[in-house]
Amino acid sequence: MLSFKFILVAYGLLLVPQSVISSPAVPRYFQRSLFSRGNISATTVETELGPQLSSGSLVFGPDSPQWSNATSRFDTLVRPDVQVVVEPASEADVSKIARSQLWTKAPFGFLVRNRGHGITTSLSAFSGIQINMNQLNGVSILPDEGTAILQGGTFARDLVPTLWDAGYVTTTGASPCVGIIGPALGGGYGRYSGLYGLVLDDILHYNVVLANGTEIGVNETSHPDLLWALKGAGHNFAIVTSVVKKIYPKEIDTWHYHSYVWTQDKLETAFETLNGFHKSDNGTTPPKMGVNYGSIIMNTSVSTTEAVLEWSFYYAGPAGEAEEILKPFNAIGAVAEDVFDASYPEVSSLTDGNCAGAPIALASVLTVEYNITAERALYELYVANVARYPELAATAYAWHEGYATAGYQAVPSDSTAFAHREENHIMFFATVVPDGSGLLDAAMTWAKDSRDIWNGGQPDRLPATYVNYAAGHDYEALDSIYGYESWRLERLRGLKAEYDPHNRFRFYVPVICGQ
Ligand SMILES: Cc1cc2nc3c(=O)[nH]c(=O)nc-3n(C[C@H](O)[C@H](O)[C@H](O)COP(=O)(O)OP(=O)(O)OC[C@H]3O[C@@H](n4cnc5c(N)ncnc54)[C@H](O)[C@@H]3O)c2cc1C
Ligand SMILES: *[C@@H]1O[C@H](CO)[C@@H](O)[C@H](O)[C@H]1NC(C)=O
Ligand SMILES: *[C@@H]1O[C@H](CO)[C@@H](O)[C@H](O)[C@H]1NC(C)=O
Ligand SMILES: *[C@@H]1O[C@H](CO)[C@@H](O)[C@H](O)[C@H]1NC(C)=O
Ligand SMILES: *[C@@H]1O[C@H](CO)[C@@H](O)[C@H](O)[C@H]1NC(C)=O
Ligand SMILES: *[C@@H]1O[C@H](CO)[C@@H](O)[C@H](O)[C@H]1NC(C)=O
Ligand SMILES: *[C@@H]1O[C@H](CO)[C@@H](O)[C@H](O)[C@H]1NC(C)=O
Ligand SMILES: *[C@@H]1O[C@H](CO)[C@@H](O)[C@H](O)[C@H]1NC(C)=O
Repeated sequence: MLSFKFILVAYGLLLVPQSVISSPAVPRYFQRSLFSRGNISATTVETELGPQLSSGSLVFGPDSPQWSNATSRFDTLVRPDVQVVVEPASEADVSKIARSQLWTKAPFGFLVRNRGHGITTSLSAFSGIQINMNQLNGVSILPDEGTAILQGGTFARDLVPTLWDAGYVTTTGASPCVGIIGPALGGGYGRYSGLYGLVLDDILHYNVVLANGTEIGVNETSHPDLLWALKGAGHNFAIVTSVVKKIYPKEIDTWHYHSYVWTQDKLETAFETLNGFHKSDNGTTPPKMGVNYGSIIMNTSVSTTEAVLEWSFYYAGPAGEAEEILKPFNAIGAVAEDVFDASYPEVSSLTDGNCAGAPIALASVLTVEYNITAERALYELYVANVARYPELAATAYAWHEGYATAGYQAVPSDSTAFAHREENHIMFFATVVPDGSGLLDAAMTWAKDSRDIWNGGQPDRLPATYVNYAAGHDYEALDSIYGYESWRLERLRGLKAEYDPHNRFRFYVPVICGQ
């Protein structure tokens, strides 16, 4: 979970710059497609599609008051060239849109927008008509089946309380701002990963629209090959109009939260304790300690020159059980702690509001274990750059995620296109790059150097990248994302030839680049 607002609010800063100053020079890999294929107007799209779509569907261009919300993005360095937005009001509309002559006449590809939190700059290569899923947010609970039908535009902030009120929970991303399908297409880590797996692990059936507009149902008996691909490389294959997903009776009344602020002299102890903790349940992370998040970050109320470690733990159960597990962390000696117990919807909405946009430089990795030498090197780099770039210091942080893994590690690696079940941690460096600061290159270098240090900390493993945290850098090799076993990319490309022969789904970490 990326969480900027949380940190920025804590520091009393504003996320969105108040004045719009012209942006600094943008490196080539962040530029829009150099090969513009011509423009299309809302009138053209409305003429073609308007009569076919169900009532309530919308077609609009940049003149509409809805434009700004409909095209806003979490990371404003991601700049798809959206010319017209189409907003289907029913699932059947999606097929009509995809079949339209608009796509067959012009070589546009499909860009589906759900909650706009995709952070890969590969999206900036897009030019054309964007399909917005926000009206397709229906949820039907089927108690007898233990499932719910979720439409393709559902998102966590709506879904979590809806299920809770009916007596259920399910896997979602940990941030209330992100979609369900967006994360699920590439994985989907959340607070229930330890018990139930990734968001994609409990999807039983997908209703999708293929590139040629054909609607099919995908499950273990219908197009099982595509089911495999949708679970990890799904952005490349189809538009998901709805899914059937497992739900679980709510059995846990409250979650226990405990956060710590440690000074940097505790860094080695803290990471040793974390490594021990992540093996403490018969070799794995205690499944009910859904996640712990931690940062190397500035907290100027502690020090203006030394960074601190801020760590928070979320446990699916009562305080007593959680504190038993947290004893080694309590013994480290924090300068500040925060503790509370809350219902799952309350815990899930802790970063509510963290949906607004900013220009963010980011690079991420996946690792098996924390390397303490590397973490010390990361700290040294961090404090050196904080001193060098005061304008980045307030928002820069090196983030560590430790989800409980038992749920997703129980699923065989080759059974889905998601290639990273062995890894236990996602880490990233991120910073807001203030408009006009001229620090984009410096921020990008800081991000890459952090990634290199983390990768250097596991010399016996190849770099690994979570597709949903891939930022579009040229150093994020495709096999580091989709898996090093050569059969994985071969299989994905074979399925592309079958299901999307014209590569219309090519803007989100494409398995086949170019036209
Ligand atoms: C603040 C923040 C918090 C995050 N927290 C988590 C987290 O806790 N766990 C986690 O695993 N990841 C997390 N992520 C990463 C997240 O999985 C990706 O950013 C994801 O792409 C977000 O999906 P979206 O719908 O919000 O974004 P969008 O940008 O709208 O969608 C991303 C891409 O998904 C595809 N897509 C979305 N919906 C559909 C659909 N119905 N049919 C076909 N294609 C579709 C499109 O290719 C689209 O470009 C987080 C990211 C951010 C920025
Ligand atoms: C598309 O529109 C933009 C903005 O109006 C304009 O700058 C660009 O030249 C147009 N491109 C083509 C190919 O017409
Ligand atoms: C844009 O989104 C904001 C926040 O969700 C909302 O308050 C506002 O009404 C929206 N504006 C339009 C024009 O839809
Ligand atoms: C699988 O999908 C097919 C096609 O949509 C559907 O007919 C069938 O009922 C589905 N099977 C299950 C078990 O959901
Ligand atoms: C611990 O793990 C081993 C090997 O994975 C397994 O055989 C054993 O049953 C587990 N023990 C418990 C108590 O879960
Ligand atoms: C910063 O440190 C102080 C203790 O000096 C603590 O109270 C506060 O919560 C910390 N801020 C954050 C965002 O963790
Ligand atoms: C830890 O990282 C350092 C580089 O920072 C590396 O030299 C060392 O081999 C790593 N240790 C392990 C156990 O991988
Ligand atoms: C649409 O694509 C699918 C998958 O490639 C194919 O099986 C089907 O025949 C196509 N339908 C049409 C009408 O071309």
